[in-house]
Amino acid sequence: MNSIISMTIITRMNPCCSSRILISSSKCYHSNKLTRPIRRLHCLGFNSNNNKCLIDTNKITAPPIISNWGKIKVLFSCNNIGRGRGNLVILNVASNVRQHSSSVEGGNVKENSFGRLYIQGGGGINVKPLLVERIEDIDVGKVLEEGKVDEVRVEVNSENVKGLNEGNEVKVGKTERELSDIEKEAWKFLNDSVVNYCGTPVGTVAANDPADKLPLNYDQVFIRDFVPSALAFLLKGEGEIVRNFLLHTLQLQSWEKTVDCYSPGQGLMPASFKVRTVPLDGSSGLFEEVLDPDFGESAIGRVAPVDSGLWWIILLRAYGKITGDYALQERVDIQTGIKLILNLCLTDGFDMFPSLLVTDGSCMIDRRMGIHGHPLEIQALFYAALRSSREMLTIDDGSKNLVRAINNRLSALSFHIREYYWVDMKKINEIYRYKTEEYSTNAINKFNIYPDQIPAWLVDWIPDKGGYLIGNLQPAHMDFRFFTLGNLWSIISSLGTTRQNQGILNLIEDKWDDLVGQMPLKICYPALEYEEWRIITGSDPKNTPWSYHNGGSWPTLLWQFTLACIKMGRPGLAEKAVALAEKRLSMDKWPEYYDTRNGRFIGKQARLHQTWTIAGYLTSKMLLENPQLASLLIWEEDLELLETCICALSKTPRAKCSRVAARSQILV
Ligand code: GLC
Repeated sequence: MNSIISMTIITRMNPCCSSRILISSSKCYHSNKLTRPIRRLHCLGFNSNNNKCLIDTNKITAPPIISNWGKIKVLFSCNNIGRGRGNLVILNVASNVRQHSSSVEGGNVKENSFGRLYIQGGGGINVKPLLVERIEDIDVGKVLEEGKVDEVRVEVNSENVKGLNEGNEVKVGKTERELSDIEKEAWKFLNDSVVNYCGTPVGTVAANDPADKLPLNYDQVFIRDFVPSALAFLLKGEGEIVRNFLLHTLQLQSWEKTVDCYSPGQGLMPASFKVRTVPLDGSSGLFEEVLDPDFGESAIGRVAPVDSGLWWIILLRAYGKITGDYALQERVDIQTGIKLILNLCLTDGFDMFPSLLVTDGSCMIDRRMGIHGHPLEIQALFYAALRSSREMLTIDDGSKNLVRAINNRLSALSFHIREYYWVDMKKINEIYRYKTEEYSTNAINKFNIYPDQIPAWLVDWIPDKGGYLIGNLQPAHMDFRFFTLGNLWSIISSLGTTRQNQGILNLIEDKWDDLVGQMPLKICYPALEYEEWRIITGSDPKNTPWSYHNGGSWPTLLWQFTLACIKMGRPGLAEKAVALAEKRLSMDKWPEYYDTRNGRFIGKQARLHQTWTIAGYLTSKMLLENPQLASLLIWEEDLELLETCICALSKTPRAKCSRVAARSQILV
């Protein structure tokens, strides 16, 4: 392998090492230190004279495995490398060679040595800090043979990511035409929103509104908001920021007490994080940079960021698919991160359904909006995250059971959503004639839905052709509101059947004035009004009817709509929506959301220069220009999953009606 590798040698417990790590700015290995009962990552500022970054570390990421060693550049740590055990090497690989799963085979470094390292470090925690002083070329194989170091880790740097897809059918980073002024402006604003930590880009702020005197937490990097930014960068051929984001957020994954005296589940990803510059303890004039996560303990309403971990997994897959850098997802720490998130989602509780049970406001709609229970948005992201994980998990004895659990859940979840969340003219008519109070396993009206629940608006609204997945399903309760993100992700992830997915787009086309109007797209339809608004939102003045989460229009939904349209072979619909957005977004200064029934006004409290509005627009443009890129971001129907579900159903004598349903719904 023709690689330029730069290597950081880390000497643990070495008396000559100071308690700081000094490394070149582009290779900022950081760690965390607890200053309060939440995890923070510390970087001790940036020295502009020597271009180096000072970091404090007590956790170091675990390594992937590489196959061949060439001559490498080394950042040497202290002068006494090789004094006894406890040395660790981190490699920075710049290679033109695609890093594939196959790179695991035939390596000079034994896999179990990495396993050992990871376990020894207690999951990477409490590794002593180190000082890196100089750069040299060394032969890694020789160093290992001579026993100078115990372990080696590899980091693929940005050069590695660039151009990895060259020669593939799907090309990133290529634009045949001159960008329009609006696109140029959008790229400028997107670049301006980039947040650096320790000299390297790690994310984008939620909004960069120059006139905003009270940014609240909009100056933070939100996990969900960063996804369209990440895709815009990836599709342009810039992978570094995404890679850094994935690794840094991984290190913020929850393990400590946060909300008052209560600890959220291990594995929870924060909603957002902020880079703070704080004075360094005990030293005058020195500052350190700190990554400060918010797991909801500061968030308005203390909402749980359930979707963050799901987005993280989805983005990790997209990163691998677009850059070809599969080595990242194979790393032990990344694999552990995926497993922690999944454990949290797959833990047994009191649930009766395969859908994920959550509290209100646990996703993009992060305020009280009556979406507690089993909201569609979470189910669709959960499904996509499970499918992503199944592709990325390294299968071994330790992960076999998890993969089995994922497969079972995927089958059950898709059956559940396809069968019970889907409504169209026919289904509404069935519900209208439902018998209630059916006690038996053969009940048709399983959830005891009273026909009177069918809202008046729906009777006239449901089109003859097409349909959609309802917002939520609970015992004796169907939330018939149309939630856009959940429906779009059901298409993208193939949670819905092909017929259902087409049906959703038919409905959007048919109800264009309601769901798109003057600005794509409504976050949900219709708005809660009057008594419903008072009771369900708790009289929330930000969520008044047809504003913000309560029927407001969110341009960031555009990229997901574009992806869904391309997947279903209907790019024309997306083009129409993008053209509409293009007329106003730049003129209106890229607002966060729009208000009123058909999205005429800029949102009452909308931030301007909202990053995911900007990035969503750019991502949509790039996808439409190069529709084959969409294939990297979607999931096709998995027939094996359907088979598992049908087998499971046919084994149980109870499921007569479900079997019929399986034929009519699942197999379409
Ligand atoms: C609002 C949105 C949320 C978003 C955040 C930052 O709270 O509801 O979805 O992540 O702003 O833009």
